[in-house]
Amino acid sequence: MAAERLDYFPLGLAQDEAFCNRISERAHLSQNMQTHKPTLLISPRRYGKTSLAVQALRDGDVPFAMIDFFVSPDSNSISAHVLNGVAELMTNIMKSSEKALKFAKEVFKNLEVSIDLGRLKLQLHPGAAAQQNPSLLIFDTLKQLEEALTKQKQKAALFFDEFQVLGQLKDSQGIEGAIRNVAQQSKSLSFLFSGSSRHLLSTMFDDRNRPLYLLCDRIHVNRIHRPEYLAFFDKAAEATWKKALPRETGEAILTLTAHHPYYVNVLCSRLFLKAEPPTSMDAETTWHQYAQQERSRIAYDLNQLSVNQRKLLLALSSEPVGSITSQKFLQQHGLSGASSLQAMNVLVERDYVYQNDEGLFHILDPVLQYVLEYL
Ligand SMILES: Nc1ncnc2c1ncn2[C@@H]1O[C@H](COP(=O)(O)OP(=O)(O)O)[C@@H](O)[C@H]1O
Ligand SMILES: [Mg+2]
Repeated sequence: MAAERLDYFPLGLAQDEAFCNRISERAHLSQNMQTHKPTLLISPRRYGKTSLAVQALRDGDVPFAMIDFFVSPDSNSISAHVLNGVAELMTNIMKSSEKALKFAKEVFKNLEVSIDLGRLKLQLHPGAAAQQNPSLLIFDTLKQLEEALTKQKQKAALFFDEFQVLGQLKDSQGIEGAIRNVAQQSKSLSFLFSGSSRHLLSTMFDDRNRPLYLLCDRIHVNRIHRPEYLAFFDKAAEATWKKALPRETGEAILTLTAHHPYYVNVLCSRLFLKAEPPTSMDAETTWHQYAQQERSRIAYDLNQLSVNQRKLLLALSSEPVGSITSQKFLQQHGLSGASSLQAMNVLVERDYVYQNDEGLFHILDPVLQYVLEYL
């Protein structure tokens, strides 16, 4: 086993050799970034949005920075994240903190610009003359950035990750408006947004009374298809054992994980530690052990749900269902039509359940499905 063996199945970001397919999404995104069309990536969590965005931006050869709203409790924290992202972008454009410092001082007259000597990082803070209101501060900063880039004929991109967090804040609309104002007419700066709650994103982008209404082109990030995954497994297996992965093993991995990118990596990261290519039986045993380890976490999650929501999940774990209001289904599970609909709405909103192209309701998380079905 080579000491510096490449990690084909990371549990964090997938990049380069660990990045499987997404060819059309990458092309679509690159095209949108080149034409400055603001774009929104949507999918349930752990489907590969952040990996896709970062990979596509790196493909593009244009400096970019990521602004992650993941833990932003209020609008001051949001504006601090935006200033940090802009500082990082400046550094990526100028390729050194010193040059970025000079550039930032010219561009942002109202901000306090400095270098953190410990980490040698450019820092931007609202100065005494700056707008203290987060939305105005964000608007001024992004607008000044866009104008400076245009003057220098410099392209750049900003990637806002976990963007739905902003929509949950009570006073988010001012910030949404600030971002829209710059994004809808920018010629040098491209905007990419990504988020994982369809429901929250929909309230931000589909409501005609909200500032971001109809701003973005959308890309729905789906699971990766069978042929691309099987080819990818073979590439990783060649690099690991100098052999292809037995076809039944590849098929078993995809059946057990339902092609869910995070769980494919969880299972494969274990299987690819073996001295020899694993069999389909190895895949089943390893998945079973993993599901057992996850069982108590899942029990805890389920306890947060209502009785009717749990009834529905149990029903779906034995088979996907088309109608949740048929007499037969309601009688079998002791539900009324209204309560069944209400409970299902919540399950879909929270990504416990998804409806496939044929209209059947499925459990989204393959470990949850497995635990409910077998453990
Ligand atoms: N294109 C891909 N090829 C292989 N693995 C991927 C790909 N995209 C994502 N993954 C894996 O899926 C998991 C979730 O990816 P991530 O980008 O964090 O998703 P999200 O941002 O949607 O939550 C990680 O384990 C990552 O390595
Ligand atoms: Mg992500």
